[in-house]
Amino acid sequence: MTSRLLTNIGELLTNDSSRVDETPVGRVLDAAIVVDEERVLWVGRGADAPAADEYYDARGAAVVPGFVDSHTHLIFAGERSGEFEARMAGERYDGGGIANTVAATRAASDEQLREQSNARLAALRAGGVTTVEVKSGYALDVDGEARLVRLAKEITAEVTFLGAHVVPREFAADRDGYVALVAGEMMTRCASAKWTDVFCDVGAFDVDEARTVLEAGRANGHSLRLHANQIADIGAVALAVETDCASVDHCTYLSDPDVERLAGSDTVATLLPGAEFSTRSPYPSGRRLLDAGVKVALATDCNPGTSYVTSMSFVIALAVREMGLSVDEALWAATRGGAAALRREDIGHLEVGARCDLVILNAPRVAHLAYRPGSSLIREVWRSESGEH
Ligand code: NIG
Ligand code: FE
Repeated sequence: MTSRLLTNIGELLTNDSSRVDETPVGRVLDAAIVVDEERVLWVGRGADAPAADEYYDARGAAVVPGFVDSHTHLIFAGERSGEFEARMAGERYDGGGIANTVAATRAASDEQLREQSNARLAALRAGGVTTVEVKSGYALDVDGEARLVRLAKEITAEVTFLGAHVVPREFAADRDGYVALVAGEMMTRCASAKWTDVFCDVGAFDVDEARTVLEAGRANGHSLRLHANQIADIGAVALAVETDCASVDHCTYLSDPDVERLAGSDTVATLLPGAEFSTRSPYPSGRRLLDAGVKVALATDCNPGTSYVTSMSFVIALAVREMGLSVDEALWAATRGGAAALRREDIGHLEVGARCDLVILNAPRVAHLAYRPGSSLIREVWRSESGEH
């Protein structure tokens, strides 16, 4: 192992709440950090830094933990810019366009899907994402979902089975048959995923159908997460809390009881402002959630329908501008919040022993991520070589 000292850091966010200024982001000014190929070895003031094998000068830049993008639909074929234009002209999102992506994805070869997903992955990585979750959900048949899970596993350890995305056209007259297929044979064939997710909303699956699929996922050894309250409030948050989902995602429309439920639970609320942006929906208040004591994550939701977004910086800027988060809160949500949404302790922070996943910004202060939206502020991304991400 080779130790590497990164010093002359203007502002370092460690997300270690025991550090220096007592804020949740654990800010250290005039900082340094020592890492090896896998882990963080030392963190502190530059003046106190120990010797190391290699030396790297950050030249006053801000440094943050690598972003944890805990919600993407990275593997798909085709695009739906026409739907986006229609929504900008006043049309509403109802999930109907998913069928178009299903048709394109079914028709694509493994190689085509790999090539397109890798291009999106490269964009995420260049934007500072060091861990990414990837869902299936654009095949909606047994072989196709198993194929998407297999391709997702080439990208990440955080693979989610989303056979219950919507009811495919061929099952339009037999919803129960589709739910049974997802909870049965399709689930078994997708056993190697880590997570089960359901789109529990108007136009997708109701609470009882979602419960059936989540219970089958748990019986299959998966941990759980849920798409909820994106289009309407049909009681999905209560289901997520009841089934101990690690994360409930979207949360565009939340009732007060739902906010209370989340505050008293281990379920993270994952906000996806790219989806509100691209569907011209109202942004939910992140402030309301944080003030109630809910843990909040931010993610891209990268998908061709509601959020063709590969920039966590853009997501952070939206959360600060539109959702009432401070810059520090948005940074925490995009890093340690994402890790919590994946129930991971080894990422999303830079305490000694954590994976050495970090981002060096082209800016002296972290606030520039929200202050200069659309600018390319990611100078360098360091990513641990250890094991699976
Ligand atoms: O997270 N809401 C469900 N799934 C995706 C959108 C899928 C699509 O429209 O292609 C989402 O927004
Ligand atoms: Fe999604």
